[in-house]
Amino acid sequence: MSCVPVHIAFIMDGNGRWAQAHGLPRYEGHRKGASVLKKVLRIAEKNGIKYVTFFAFSSENFSRPKPEVDFLMNLFERFLKKYHKILCEKKIRFRAIGNLLQLPINLQFAIEELTQNTAHFDSFHITIALNYGARNEVIQAIGNLLEDKDIKVKKLTWEGFEQYLYTKDLPDPDLIIRTSGEQRLSNFLLLQSAYAELYFTKTYWPDFNEKELLSAIKDYGARERRMGKINDKTSN
Ligand code: FPP
Repeated sequence: MSCVPVHIAFIMDGNGRWAQAHGLPRYEGHRKGASVLKKVLRIAEKNGIKYVTFFAFSSENFSRPKPEVDFLMNLFERFLKKYHKILCEKKIRFRAIGNLLQLPINLQFAIEELTQNTAHFDSFHITIALNYGARNEVIQAIGNLLEDKDIKVKKLTWEGFEQYLYTKDLPDPDLIIRTSGEQRLSNFLLLQSAYAELYFTKTYWPDFNEKELLSAIKDYGARERRMGKINDKTSN
């Protein structure tokens, strides 16, 4: 494929509506969503994508009914444990971003273990955003920055500031894909997406598939990314 994004971030939306449309409880949508995530990983890797990030749980999602939150936390933990061995065998680096300290302790352990055991891999990177909110990320970053005695706030550059973000060792996303027809970022990677291309599809996340992902990548390849500059061909 011609110009493929280095980093794709996914807003996996529509699990609940998918379940409702199939006469199923919401948790079945999440369960199917988890199997789609696994397939998307494989397809992305096969197509030369180096970084994939998934928005799995926003800070605001904690206000959902407790049984749904508990189900999701359990699903995340089981998912990480189930794929621990495969990620290590395939040398895939795992990261989690978000306010992880508010997550159930067993999930925190599973995250910590997988993060540490894959920290030396570099061929393919998967990041899961859990209890993530971009505004909280910025507030937390500023708090940490102000505690840093060596920092000269007036001389701060973007490169300096981004070292305080959860995503400090990740490249910015080139492409953000949101499923389910909603066309917004919902507090996801707001600063990191400054120059990201956005792709929206009406497909609910549990129905997202290889064909959809390849069309999004193709669409991205046809876009002209000027990043605030002007196109060489039109500059004369
Ligand atoms: C949004 O759909 C989805 C979520 C809040 C949960 C995302 C979780 C998964 C896809 C499960 C797999 C993830 C991992 C990391 C194993 P929604 O519930 O808001 O759907 P709706 O808008 O139709 O109600």
